[in-house]
Amino acid sequence: MKISVIGSGYVGSVTAACFAEAGHEIICVDIDLKKTEQINAGIPPIYEEGLGELLQKYAGKRLIATTDYEFAVNETDISFICVGTPSAEDGSIDLSIVRAAAASIGAALAKKEGYHVVVVKSTVVPETTEKFVLPVLEEASGKTAGKNFGVAMNPEFLREGKAVQDFMHPDKIVVGAIDRRSGDLVSELYRTFECEITRTSPATAEMIKYVNNSLLATKISFANEIGNICKKLGIDTYEVMEAVGKDFRISPKFLNSGAGFGGSCFPKDVKALIGKAKAIGYSPVLLESVIAVNERQPLLMTEILQRKIGNPAGKKIAVLGLAFKNETDDIRESRAIPVIAELLRLGARVSAYDPMATENMKRIFPTIEYLDKASDALKDADACLVMTEWDEFRNLDSEFQNMKGKIVIDGRRIIKAKNVDYEGLCW
Ligand code: UDX
Repeated sequence: MKISVIGSGYVGSVTAACFAEAGHEIICVDIDLKKTEQINAGIPPIYEEGLGELLQKYAGKRLIATTDYEFAVNETDISFICVGTPSAEDGSIDLSIVRAAAASIGAALAKKEGYHVVVVKSTVVPETTEKFVLPVLEEASGKTAGKNFGVAMNPEFLREGKAVQDFMHPDKIVVGAIDRRSGDLVSELYRTFECEITRTSPATAEMIKYVNNSLLATKISFANEIGNICKKLGIDTYEVMEAVGKDFRISPKFLNSGAGFGGSCFPKDVKALIGKAKAIGYSPVLLESVIAVNERQPLLMTEILQRKIGNPAGKKIAVLGLAFKNETDDIRESRAIPVIAELLRLGARVSAYDPMATENMKRIFPTIEYLDKASDALKDADACLVMTEWDEFRNLDSEFQNMKGKIVIDGRRIIKAKNVDYEGLCW
């Protein structure tokens, strides 16, 4: 089939490349000419394992990129909206980019003959597809949804670093459509995928995405809450969770306590669901607690630090790990950010190291010291805070011996070194 993919960011570029791999013909649309040129040259706009290879394979063949909406909509059967949905000031979802994309698709639909389906893949709060995107499409096209064109919602569940693998081998595919014709066409795209397709309404599909992420975030905040209690009782929370996770109704995944969750999805999506709940007159106390635990968790690290060394003003504190998780250079909502901000507020000197994310963090904290090796960041430091679960930190041992303080506060239960003054965040 012929698909246009609107937006060449993280979700859009992975969706385009993976649908090409599944045998479809793809036209990527982006308002950024540079991005389209990059894609046409086979260069991925973001780093994601396996994405470069797929673009190399298909760019200029069954995958092309353009800034021309009219051409893309006219040449294809389906358009996927894969643009960003950032948080507004109050945490609720900002739909201005989705609106602009829908208006441009609508304007192109006005000139197109024949049926076309518009699919929202961007993460949007329940009711957005039917009550927000659909009317924009109708207004801009002068046509009627369900008659002249179809509308559907098809959420993604991709993990950063594993997005291509997750797209090609999904646990679930959810297609929420306004009518059978739209749903059938979207489902047809996934015919070769070995995965059952769940057919729902658009609002249910939107909700499934938010509940998925909110439940995973809840598991982590729950594990962190239990970890904090266990630590006070002298009980090892990892031993507790290992046994608890053996219950097949619970699963052992996402019960690792530590500095909390970051990334582009969990914090944003939980906050957007909170915003939506409040907008319809419900006070979501559990979801608000999930965020509250996550915001408190990194600051427990600096509390431990102060208990151990007193006032950190003027002291050198090494921060190991800046990315929001391992195997990525993404620092969005990284738990290292509130920790570094607090260290600076307290007047500490920060020496930071991350194998991939240094350049990104420089934009947020341009004045702290960045080192190319963990051992250099640790040299002469009074204490060290471990923020990201990078594998290479597991083997650190002698590197700690060059510290002045040899105090290691571990936010990810990853340090095994023996001859240091070690304290885990919640164990
Ligand atoms: C997540 C979802 O997994 C994915 O399905 C969704 O589409 C987007 O959001 P991602 O943001 O890439 O993916 O990261 P993920 O691997 O899920 O980790 C999120 C955060 O939780 C990281 O900061 C990680 O360090 C933290 N985490 C994870 C924990 O603190 N404890 C755990 O047990 C697991």
